[in-house]
Amino acid sequence: MCGIVGFVGDRPAADVLLNGLRRLEYRGYDSAGLALMGTDGALHVVKQTGKVSALAEKVRKAIPRKEVRAAHVGIAHTRWATHGLPTEANAHPQVSADGKIAVVHNGIIENYAAVRAQLEGRGVVFASQTDTEVLAHLIAAYEHGDLLAAVMEALRRVDGTYGIAVVSTEHPGQVVVARKGSPLVVGVGDGETIVASDVSAIVSMTRNVIYLQDGDVGVVTADGVRLYGLDTSASVERPVASVEWEVGAAEKEGYEHFMLKEIFEQPSSLRNALRGRLEMNRGTAILSGLNLTPRELAGIRRCVIVGCGTSLHAGMVGKYLFEGLADVPTSPEQAAEFRYCNPILAPDDLVIAISQSGETADTLAAVREAVQKGTVVAGLCNVVGSTIARETGRGVYLHAGPEIGVASTKAFTSQVAVLLLLALKMGRGRRLSREEGMTLCREIEGIPGLVEQVLAQNERIAQVAEKYAQVRDAFFIGRGILYPTALEGALKLKEISYIHAEGYQAAELKHGPIALLDESVPVVALLNDIPGKEKTLGNVEECRARKAPVIGIVTAGDEAATAAVADVIEVPRTSSYVAPIVTAVALQIFAYHVARLRGCEIDQPRNLAKSVTVE
Ligand code: G6P
Repeated sequence: MCGIVGFVGDRPAADVLLNGLRRLEYRGYDSAGLALMGTDGALHVVKQTGKVSALAEKVRKAIPRKEVRAAHVGIAHTRWATHGLPTEANAHPQVSADGKIAVVHNGIIENYAAVRAQLEGRGVVFASQTDTEVLAHLIAAYEHGDLLAAVMEALRRVDGTYGIAVVSTEHPGQVVVARKGSPLVVGVGDGETIVASDVSAIVSMTRNVIYLQDGDVGVVTADGVRLYGLDTSASVERPVASVEWEVGAAEKEGYEHFMLKEIFEQPSSLRNALRGRLEMNRGTAILSGLNLTPRELAGIRRCVIVGCGTSLHAGMVGKYLFEGLADVPTSPEQAAEFRYCNPILAPDDLVIAISQSGETADTLAAVREAVQKGTVVAGLCNVVGSTIARETGRGVYLHAGPEIGVASTKAFTSQVAVLLLLALKMGRGRRLSREEGMTLCREIEGIPGLVEQVLAQNERIAQVAEKYAQVRDAFFIGRGILYPTALEGALKLKEISYIHAEGYQAAELKHGPIALLDESVPVVALLNDIPGKEKTLGNVEECRARKAPVIGIVTAGDEAATAAVADVIEVPRTSSYVAPIVTAVALQIFAYHVARLRGCEIDQPRNLAKSVTVE
């Protein structure tokens, strides 16, 4: 969603804010803005539609360089529109009518229409269509010499979610922050403090961070942050954590795009997901963060996996893993649907929430619903300390490192790998023998090497992509455990290339969608040499009979499958359980090259956001 940065210190705030925004740009990128505390006692507010680079250019033109260098306090924002078009007026910061208070905000103020009407009734004139502007005017209305108190008063009058940072010309050395439902992290440096909506904007300055929790309100100064509870107004203490991410992890490191870098990082991100978690001689997995005894694990009757987007697709693969290896009936559920369907949960169910960011609003709401119903809930998150990781209190971290490309790649393969470990562990408590467990352990250990073999096909896949880069529509078909991978392949292609792409169960295509096939509509068929391939080959024939060109994802050396398709992308031989991982990597590379050849904005596709913190 949107990204927030705030700074108080000794160096020019604009540098810190703009660098921070660049790192957060993946969160939202339709417009950006900043407010700098001027030496003349006024705020310099600059806003611009488009990218952060356009904002930086405008700041250079709009404010004299000397003034920019002298401003040591400020707030900034990159936006993904929820209320109102992506215009300059709607960009943040939003400013009070007297120009003294500026607010940046992530989230949604649900009762903004009512609050706006009240304020308008009192003569306040609004300059934007945003929900955020009501906060600026409310804070101004309550500001009588204590900015923190005014922010608290204002927040008590709004419903909804927020991460905010506020500055006021009356309090030039402060940034007031608050969090409810939208993440905020404070980085504590030496004589300087930075606040941001995620650590990637902070790590270049300091590794010492404080994660705000829902209901926290605080005053940030150059010396750090003082936090209070919104409900009680009492002071609260939050621990200082140390961030493990390397600064370079959030850089492109010579790759043309973050997405390509992240695709190529998968052998190492998978090694990190597996490190220390395979117990080879007992043929099982060690997942201590789950905090479940073997007895408790063996007592699980059913799993429900919730997630959105790519994480949902990983959960759908999880169904085949849990049922195939551990005999545990499993339902993957789109998180928002789960939440609103009044789910039936039993005490011996396990709910697993999958989320790269750990902040997705729908997934978080599903977690809260499951907790409310008394179910054991585990999180599979990538971002350490994220809300879902904290609220579930148990789970498995992916350790994939920061994922910046909006289209998820390395998080998906790590999610599937971790689900595989969990299936192995649950399976060993049920029907898998030690020998079977050991065989699976060896195969899992080999996954990073298998992914390296797929990456070695990069140029070959680019050639295939070149042939199909200009199509309008495409279908992806897969069967069994490869069906969710077909969905994920189609999602990757549509997200970054804007080609209309749909994933289908291979057998379902003939029940309708086949009407759309002709020589201009390619079908990507997942033909890995695993059980079910022969049947999918039959479906390929149905496509060919309608003149659709078929691109086959084929196990290296499989002549029969190769002969059945127009173009081949080879993947190494694997069992069914590992096939989704190698196949997904091939489809990521295919989507990447198609989008590159179409000249698309690969890391920041239009209309999307990396972390969707609104419902
Ligand atoms: C957004 C992103 C997707 C992601 C989904 C779930 O839609 O664009 O790439 O899969 O959110 O995100 P999560 O962080 O919960 O995995």
